[in-house]
Amino acid sequence: MQRIVYVDGHFVEEQAAKVSIFDRGFLFADAVYEVTAVVNSKLAEFDGHMTRLQRSCRELSLTLPVSLDELKAIHYALIEKNNLNEGAIYLQLSRGNAGDRDFHFPSADVKPTLVLFTQARAVLDNPQAKTGLKVVTCPDIRWHRRDIKTVSLLAASLAKEFAHAQHADDAFLVENGFITEGSSCNCYIVLHDNTVVTRPLSNDILHGITRQSLLKLAAQHNIQLEERPFTPEEARHAREIFISSATTFVMPVVSLDGKTIGDGTPGPIARRLREIYIDMVKEQVK
Ligand code: PDD
Repeated sequence: MQRIVYVDGHFVEEQAAKVSIFDRGFLFADAVYEVTAVVNSKLAEFDGHMTRLQRSCRELSLTLPVSLDELKAIHYALIEKNNLNEGAIYLQLSRGNAGDRDFHFPSADVKPTLVLFTQARAVLDNPQAKTGLKVVTCPDIRWHRRDIKTVSLLAASLAKEFAHAQHADDAFLVENGFITEGSSCNCYIVLHDNTVVTRPLSNDILHGITRQSLLKLAAQHNIQLEERPFTPEEARHAREIFISSATTFVMPVVSLDGKTIGDGTPGPIARRLREIYIDMVKEQVK
């Protein structure tokens, strides 16, 4: 069975879905996106993702062509049409088809292109949560507005390829001597007094929705948390390292640049935060 996807007001089989070669998402990466986890056929952290989508749109003067209620209905229609129990929904909004290649923004009557599709995958029982990830560092060569969730993901893609070439699962990006974030996740280290450290919000990193909830949950569960930058060297000597994102939730890291972290198995704080986060999601999707 083919996936049913959404393109500009229509639900169609994936092979029938079409976007113009003049679409500005295709030509200029002039598009924003969101990835929302699906658990128990329900959306996790939907409001957070939509709030960030609205912010990304504002920052780029992009207009959402549908209301948030309509967006929610489209997400749920896709879950239903694809019988999706667990996985994610990808949403992309571009500045649309301007009819030709031109750097300037098109006139206001050009409609943005809205595309959504589902991806089935294990979110709760992700086997990597048991083994942990191997990560390597590489330079952060991205642009300077990483707080906007745009589809200009070539640098992230290159970082993942760099990691895979070294038989690692992912890459942490380094700028001016400090880790900014992962290629598609936020990063955390756990100090030897069990304090969790994560980089503060700025234009240097994406303001993760999972991160936002984790900070609240850490405070509720008396887990010490400090927002400050950290270096790869400090991370390699940390007690634990972990990451967060909508698709991985909380995922332990067991080696960085070939150096084993802790005893090489997922650490207790990462495991606890994953558990607490999953409990919160389960409450949302009851
Ligand atoms: N990526 N930082 C970057 C660069 C990201 O691409 C992501 C998410 C995050 C975590 O944000 P959130 O917790 O809101 O998912 C941080 C998504 C999952 C992706 O591109 O597939």
